[in-house]
Amino acid sequence: MTEKTRQILVTSALPYANGAIHLGHMLEYIQTDIWARFQRCQGHECYFAWADDAHGAPVMLWARAEGKPPEELIDIMNEQHKTDFRDFGISFDNYTSTHSDYNRELVELIYRNLDQAGYIDRRNIQQLYDEEEGMFLPDRFIRGTCPKCRTEDQYGDSCESCGSTYSPTDLIDPRSAVTGSKPVMKESEHYFFRLSEFEEPLKTWMSSGALQPEIINKLQEWFTDGLRDWDISRDAPYFGFRIPGTDDKYFYVWVDAPVGYIASFRELCDREGLDFDAWWGKDSKTEVHHFIGKDIVYFHTLFWPAMLMGAGFRTPTAVYAHGFLTVDGVKMSKSRGTFICARTYLDHLHPDYLRYYYAAKLGTGTGDIDLNLEDFVQRVNSDVVGKVVNIASRCAGFIQRRFEGRLSDRLPDQELYGRFVASRELISRDFETRNYQSAIRRIMALADEANRYIDEEKPWLQIKEDGKADHVQAVCTQGINLFRALISYLAPVLPFTADRAGAFLDTDVHDWRGIDQPLLGVAINAFQPLLTRIDPLKIEAVIEDSKESLQPAAAESATDAGFAVEDVAAEITIDDFTKIDLRVARIVSAEAVPEADKLLKLTLDIGAGTRTVFAGIKSAYEPSGLEGRLTVMVANLKPRKMRFGTSEGMVLAAGPGGEDLFLLEPDSGAEPGMRVT
Ligand code: 2FM
Ligand code: ZN
Repeated sequence: MTEKTRQILVTSALPYANGAIHLGHMLEYIQTDIWARFQRCQGHECYFAWADDAHGAPVMLWARAEGKPPEELIDIMNEQHKTDFRDFGISFDNYTSTHSDYNRELVELIYRNLDQAGYIDRRNIQQLYDEEEGMFLPDRFIRGTCPKCRTEDQYGDSCESCGSTYSPTDLIDPRSAVTGSKPVMKESEHYFFRLSEFEEPLKTWMSSGALQPEIINKLQEWFTDGLRDWDISRDAPYFGFRIPGTDDKYFYVWVDAPVGYIASFRELCDREGLDFDAWWGKDSKTEVHHFIGKDIVYFHTLFWPAMLMGAGFRTPTAVYAHGFLTVDGVKMSKSRGTFICARTYLDHLHPDYLRYYYAAKLGTGTGDIDLNLEDFVQRVNSDVVGKVVNIASRCAGFIQRRFEGRLSDRLPDQELYGRFVASRELISRDFETRNYQSAIRRIMALADEANRYIDEEKPWLQIKEDGKADHVQAVCTQGINLFRALISYLAPVLPFTADRAGAFLDTDVHDWRGIDQPLLGVAINAFQPLLTRIDPLKIEAVIEDSKESLQPAAAESATDAGFAVEDVAAEITIDDFTKIDLRVARIVSAEAVPEADKLLKLTLDIGAGTRTVFAGIKSAYEPSGLEGRLTVMVANLKPRKMRFGTSEGMVLAAGPGGEDLFLLEPDSGAEPGMRVT
């Protein structure tokens, strides 16, 4: 490794502050983290800094619905996000929020620079306005009938049914998603960034090797269509940073979100004494690599570099887009239980399993990645546990029991070890180019070779032969050293397992240069299982718990979408409604389900008999306080088999979820079994 030490900053896209982290987010953060860890394994100076994306209308409306200041809610979410990331082994150096003074200062600086250079225009525009709420409506907050295919209840910018895009004013019978009222047109002054001025410098930047070929093609299409100036302001009320020199204009969330990359890094510079200007100044020699989803390429390859150019900052070295996550071949689905939150996964499964599976699937392109749950179990068990960890466990016992934990001072097959070391170059190239699937294929091929070597040497037989002890010690030393090379190569992917392996080998497995020198004549520690097989029942538990979060549906949806109003369901007829058999029920008994965080098991008397219902209300109620109470249940819901029994209905509750849940209760006088109409 002769390459000079590089100085690298990596970022992932900033998650919105009004939602929990799910496995779709984790695909990107794991992809980024593997790359950052890989760079550090090469001895490069690599930082990973990012933040919550805290601003915008959805966060403002979420806070209103919760009756709390947005600052309070985003702080709580920020802590939860950080805990999820740490528990997934994401090695970030700084994680902050775009709602910070650092970010405000930088956004104002960038804006002033752009304005002074003549890149900001002020123009009056007409927009839909909700008179009841007193706010201009973002496109996603306007619903109406698609002007092309006439499908009802579509967003203001595009139709989910026919895929056409349009302006919200084209919608037939537009309605505000906030209040349901009919919006009116209203004029206001907006600020525009003159993106069109940057066509030539953007083309130069684009051809500097910073982008994937499919992204370059996309950009070329956009250039052909012509770059349009970008509306960067929003009128009050808005949760964001006020534009300097105005009373009621705010920066659009997409202006201050990417600046959050810089702000987060600046916070780190102040904490660690790094030279900020050397990283973000115009002629910086350092590297900045952004990892993003393919849906936000426009923002990162047009607006963002142009803003940086116009304001006198350096531009990104590279922007890498990945595809979306599907689970078992389809979009993540709440009803199937495949909309899996990071925390739900971590409640049951080891983070390194998912990290490995994602790495085994990730390539250089923007194609979607499927988390096939059966394949996930099979692949992790057979590759990581069956092949890699197995090498260590096959050899460690002999070294420990027969040779007092000491490795031999020779390798019987130098050439084999040499091949493992020499593979570093191609494996490095794969990681560097984000072709993780290829790196994993190479590493697993080496693991097969290591296992073959042990199979051929059969130390378990040779140990029984006289005069073979030295050879067995050397064979096991060979095996341990092959394992050490493999786990070093896998350290960016499996950080927790690598740490345990490092403790076992009493060496730093995170520095790939270390494998040049095999471990010889030294003592190693007692072997502890490094990673166990995935129990398929745990997958079922994850799915069940992910379904649970829908129960009761009304209670969860508000927090989930970030704001309550959007979840007003599509209209139904009275006939639809009467299909639901709602009954008064008395709670005969209530008990906690120990295996489930959110569930209580309720036995309900509905006059004609009792029903068992598993309800997601554990965080709001003590079971004993419920016994004897009346409530309302859906009595004709199809029974659902769960891990702990069959749920024969659903109780009705209101509220955003968690502790804020309120069981519906009829007035006194109602009797169990009475129909609710
Ligand atoms: O699409 C999103 O989830 C945005 N919150 C990403 C922002 S990335 C960057 F620009 F800050
Ligand atoms: Zn349509």
